[in-house]
Amino acid sequence: MPRSLDGLALAGKRVLLRGDLNVPMKDGAVADTARLDRLAPTVEEICAKGASVVLLSHFGRPGGERVPALSLRALAGPLSRALGGRRVGFAEDCIGPLAEQAAAGLGPGGVLLLENLRFHPGEEADDPGFAAALAALGDVYVNDAFSAAHRAHASTSGLARLLPAAAGRLMEAELAALESALATPDRPLAAIVGGAKISTKLDLLGNLAGRVDTLVIGGAMANTVLHALGTDVGASLCERGMAGAARALLAAADEAGCEVALPSDVVVARALEAGAPAETVPVAAVPRDAMILDLGPATANALAARLAACRTLVWNGPLGAFEMPPFDAATVAVARRAAALTKAGSLRSIAGGGDTVAALSHAGVADDFSYLSTAGGAFLEWLEGRTLPGVAALGG
Ligand code: 3PG
Repeated sequence: MPRSLDGLALAGKRVLLRGDLNVPMKDGAVADTARLDRLAPTVEEICAKGASVVLLSHFGRPGGERVPALSLRALAGPLSRALGGRRVGFAEDCIGPLAEQAAAGLGPGGVLLLENLRFHPGEEADDPGFAAALAALGDVYVNDAFSAAHRAHASTSGLARLLPAAAGRLMEAELAALESALATPDRPLAAIVGGAKISTKLDLLGNLAGRVDTLVIGGAMANTVLHALGTDVGASLCERGMAGAARALLAAADEAGCEVALPSDVVVARALEAGAPAETVPVAAVPRDAMILDLGPATANALAARLAACRTLVWNGPLGAFEMPPFDAATVAVARRAAALTKAGSLRSIAGGGDTVAALSHAGVADDFSYLSTAGGAFLEWLEGRTLPGVAALGG
């Protein structure tokens, strides 16, 4: 675990706080405030300890140029609301005279949001000069952006070399949840991995196969595994070139004593469209011209029963095309079962990734899981067993 806020003397200090305000927007408004709400306790704690906060974040991918549509100015109001109305100042740049003047004007409890770090190429290049210009704005550095910790950028990595550094409370919570899921889990431990392409999740599946007791493969990536085992998946999304990799994964899982759960029945349709006629078929009877768009009810029931025998669950990726009912049925059924077991105290459930959190919200159970990560890519990379530069920089 990285150093915590408890180890920093904060009174009278100016804290450079790296948050992740890279939130989804719709029609100019924040579509999901989770990252702001989950950052707020760290800001409040720093302010309560008599320090001021200079908040650093990226927003989108402007590629080292000033892109007005990606200004963080739009986030000052929503952030202030997440902080219960606390005033949030804004500086038009994240380094240089504008930022320096604004930071110098902060008193204890003051909060200043700086402009998008990625307007400067030095951020993503982890340029030492850019990191030094940021470091000049504060006395200590706190990183609460677990969801950006897979990036070795100036604000996630370089700054930790220049100032006394610690993890914020959200960073701590994310790491504690992941460690309780994979490093020291109560067993049996199950992982559900869904999504479209097995090629993007091979490292994840490989690492999980060596650690979990049951690995459930869902989503279109299950089609690739079924195809690799000789099943005709009809017109389904399937990465035929990954058949060898899929077979190697199954062999590795077998060797590690990990049971891989694949569908026994599936829901198929001729088009991924609302109202498209759908039917449930055994996995060995997928019509030539049909696509697998969800796991079938027998498979979903069997999964739910398996979860009842597990103590820990890690979930990344939906089981079917959940955005388009009726192909959400398996994801919703299994999510609700996991939530009920969590509420009953028999299962610890940890989920992460944008689609996964959207699917759990769609199932109405997002608040009933033990832990929902705010991270997408960083959650995946951690589960792949990689060292995250932003965590390593804090001594974690
Ligand atoms: C995220 O939304 O996953 C993080 O903010 C990282 O964003 P990035 O993929 O643009 O680095």
